[in-house]
Amino acid sequence: MVNNYPSHIGIIMDGNGRWAKLRGLPRIEGHRHGEESIMEAIRACAEWGVKALSLFAFSTENWDRPEEEVRFLVNMSRDVLRKRLEEFMELGVRMRHMGRRDNIPAEILAWFDLASEVTAPNAGLNLNINFNYGGRREILDSVIAVVEHQLEEADAGDINLDAVFRNLYFPELPDVDLLIRTAGEYRISNFMLWQSAEASIVITPVLWPDFKKAHLEEAVAEHRRLLVADASDFNY
Ligand code: IPE
Ligand code: IPE
Ligand code: MG
Repeated sequence: MVNNYPSHIGIIMDGNGRWAKLRGLPRIEGHRHGEESIMEAIRACAEWGVKALSLFAFSTENWDRPEEEVRFLVNMSRDVLRKRLEEFMELGVRMRHMGRRDNIPAEILAWFDLASEVTAPNAGLNLNINFNYGGRREILDSVIAVVEHQLEEADAGDINLDAVFRNLYFPELPDVDLLIRTAGEYRISNFMLWQSAEASIVITPVLWPDFKKAHLEEAVAEHRRLLVADASDFNY
């Protein structure tokens, strides 16, 4: 389907801790309140016919956080899937876990696997939950796969951009064309480095639990303005 929306939106969902702190609440309350923003983004992208949405839920660096917070985030990923699976089916969402499986408890992985199996036949929005995800690690994993599986009888000259690209986690998805970061930080934080190489970046001060459909619409509008400005560069 051709439409006027980005093909692939990536979101660095940041600011849950600050949201909670502003209210004198523990950090985990910020994460808890982020769930509704997650669902609004998924519903909007499904409705608009966006091909892929990647949500940065937990980075390979986030294991360094306090144990209680890590446990909450790990369990929350399962709870959200359990609670929302039916709605994913109604929306035609195809959900997948994107990231390393190591360190994630087996019981949580079982839910990731179940949700991706059940939603696999859906033809709508491709939803990536980037959990225990790091962009550098994804590229390294790809290079390892190339070396292990493709170079048995070949040489280093065969490691080229195309081979690395084809061994990324989900190479069939289009590149990220709109990368959004909430909570105002001007950082990529190791998110989808390869796929975002040519993305427009929209950074909003809004904290993730406050980020609603209207904010996503505004980011999409900003992306369109950036594209138009880019195209008009050829006119001088
Ligand atoms: C984003 O919010 C959620 C995760 C990284 C899991 P933070 O928890 O990073 O919130 P801030 O940056 O401390 O406000
Ligand atoms: C990025 O947010 C990671 C996720 C949104 C999961 P962080 O809050 O962890 O990033 P830094 O530490 O500010 O770079
Ligand atoms: Mg943060």
